[in-house]
Amino acid sequence: MREDYVHGYSEREAVRLVDQAKTLAPLLHHDTSYPKGCLVLEAGCGVGAQTITLARNSSQAEIISVDISEPSLKQAKSLIKREKISNVSFQVADIMELPFEDETFDHVFICFVLEHLPDPVKALLSLKRVLKQGGSITVIEGDHGSCYFYPETEEAVKAWECLIKVQMELDCNPLMGRELYPLLKEAGFSDIKADPRVVYVDYNKPEMVDGFIKKTIIAMVEGVKDQAINSGLITTGEWDKGIQDLHLSAEPSGTFFYNFFKGVATK
Ligand SMILES: C[S@@+](CC[C@H](N)C(=O)[O-])C[C@H]1O[C@@H](n2cnc3c(N)ncnc32)[C@H](O)[C@@H]1O
Repeated sequence: MREDYVHGYSEREAVRLVDQAKTLAPLLHHDTSYPKGCLVLEAGCGVGAQTITLARNSSQAEIISVDISEPSLKQAKSLIKREKISNVSFQVADIMELPFEDETFDHVFICFVLEHLPDPVKALLSLKRVLKQGGSITVIEGDHGSCYFYPETEEAVKAWECLIKVQMELDCNPLMGRELYPLLKEAGFSDIKADPRVVYVDYNKPEMVDGFIKKTIIAMVEGVKDQAINSGLITTGEWDKGIQDLHLSAEPSGTFFYNFFKGVATK
């Protein structure tokens, strides 16, 4: 497990991942469903936040969900048990060295993981190895360069940019979404389709104001507070004002815009 993994493995981050997945499920999962009898690999399942939707939308398929973090898998297992889902099994595995034979899986699903890996093409090639010829890969990523909000104060923008800079300092790619098509191409997949999944939130969508702006986005920015201040990217005063100002976008007079990207391709 990477000690410096940008979002960490805290209880708070586990809650954030579940909130994020729940809020975004209709947008990101509505067109992913695997038929009866398929064997699907979910790579980097974390605490199982996406696994619930994946398993429910493909209840006749068999899913193997892997992650490099044993504690996360433990949480994923209890979540799936609580939700009474029975078509998922879990395994500790490093995406870069998957413990499966070539061409084991009918489909591969990977969400919010590539951005954290130093060599995403190598990861895609590793996933391609265990995918059957003709099988599909689905990749979902965010793109922190696609974020706009109103009102936009200097401190709010600075706090947001800390998220991007901290991730970059840790050799991650916070702008991964826009690269999905070229990455899948470089890894040799065919029939590649990548499209932006737009999230626009104003006060007309109270569940998105809470689930997306507050619990997904602002919670994610708050997660890099110590790294941002300790590395001198921002002062404590600027940080506090920035977070306060980001909350203004969740007020009746505020708006928020963000682009996720989903790529689907064939081996
Ligand atoms: C941001 S979380 C996303 C989890 C989940 N896919 C979701 O959307 O809620 C990234 C996950 O990737 C896992 N991860 C990072 N590097 C990995 C690797 N080399 N092999 C397997 N999992 C990895 C981390 O442990 C973490 O659980």
